[in-house]
Amino acid sequence: MNPTFSLGRSSLQVPRLGVGVMTWGDAKGLARFHPAKIAYGGAEGLAEEKRAFEASLIAGVKLFDTAAMYSGGASERRLGELARGQEALIASKFPGGFSFRAEALPKELETSLARLGRGSIDLYQHHFPSDRVDIPRLMNLLADAVEAGKVKAVGVSNYSAEQMRIAHAALAKRGIPLASNQVEYSLLHRQPETNGVLDACRELGITLIAYSPLAMGALTGKYSATKKASGLRRLLPGFNKKAMEAVQPVVGLLREIGERYGKTPSQVALRWLIENDTVLPIPGAKNSKQATDNAGALTFRLTPAEVDALSQATRAWKG
Ligand SMILES: NC(=O)c1ccc[n+]([C@@H]2O[C@H](COP(=O)([O-])OP(=O)(O)OC[C@H]3O[C@@H](n4cnc5c(N)ncnc54)[C@H](OP(=O)(O)O)[C@@H]3O)[C@@H](O)[C@H]2O)c1
Repeated sequence: MNPTFSLGRSSLQVPRLGVGVMTWGDAKGLARFHPAKIAYGGAEGLAEEKRAFEASLIAGVKLFDTAAMYSGGASERRLGELARGQEALIASKFPGGFSFRAEALPKELETSLARLGRGSIDLYQHHFPSDRVDIPRLMNLLADAVEAGKVKAVGVSNYSAEQMRIAHAALAKRGIPLASNQVEYSLLHRQPETNGVLDACRELGITLIAYSPLAMGALTGKYSATKKASGLRRLLPGFNKKAMEAVQPVVGLLREIGERYGKTPSQVALRWLIENDTVLPIPGAKNSKQATDNAGALTFRLTPAEVDALSQATRAWKG
């Protein structure tokens, strides 16, 4: 069984890796065109998502990340359905739309709880900061939700170091830790190391939850300048010809290191993140094969020299 650790300074015990379920669920109507669906070309349907869910649990990866916004709530609904009666930890995010104000938090929470079919959410995260949302006011409402037993741990997402400090201070006044900040972080997106977020996480005892830890698939080694990814992500700068050519030496190094341990490039890329105690990656998995592969990042270690070699090889992605 994989060891668990505290998420930030909260009492929530989590594994060192989670699963992102952004692409899961049966979207209806306009939600079928949600970025989570069209950017990746969709996941593989209920039966395969169930197998991915079960494979993750068996491997000890019992933390699943969703959001009210993903496919108009379809991802939350699917995760709730799969997690019923299971020992799974659910991380979700609010709001479900863009016109959110702090006062709407209690209603947002009830809607997510209903979709998930649960009385509480293990980690409830503010999805992205906004000028319309006063952070201390929002944190107070989240503290109320913790005291009411509807939320176990509070997190934020896409917050800058300064915004994190404001949220952390507001919650501290209520005696509640800010457990996590979920931001984009991978070998090909190293800004958290230079924009102060990783340092602030370390200083304040907040876990950095790394989203898109496989750089949306670019680090898996299966794409190149000629072998294009599915969905609209192929139009993003990270997938253009020049970017994909620049990634190939990184994939080559991931492969070379992986061969020493019988591990895939994805597993080595995830392990580079896990070797940092402050970081918890949540790779997306469309099927059980990917879920099983990603969970394999928990069953080996990189040497400090290997971590360093990967850091050196991806220096250009720090800016
Ligand atoms: N807070 C936020 O604003 C935010 C934003 C984005 C994502 N997220 C969260 O982060 C999670 C993960 O991020 P992400 O899905 O954007 O990027 P990712 O984890 O870097 O990439 C996921 C994609 O890579 C491919 N893949 C995954 N595992 C693989 C494996 N072992 N072997 C080969 N291919 C593999 C799959 O697509 P293909 O098979 O089609 O290549 C999968 O959809 C999301 O599910 C969501 O929960 C949060």
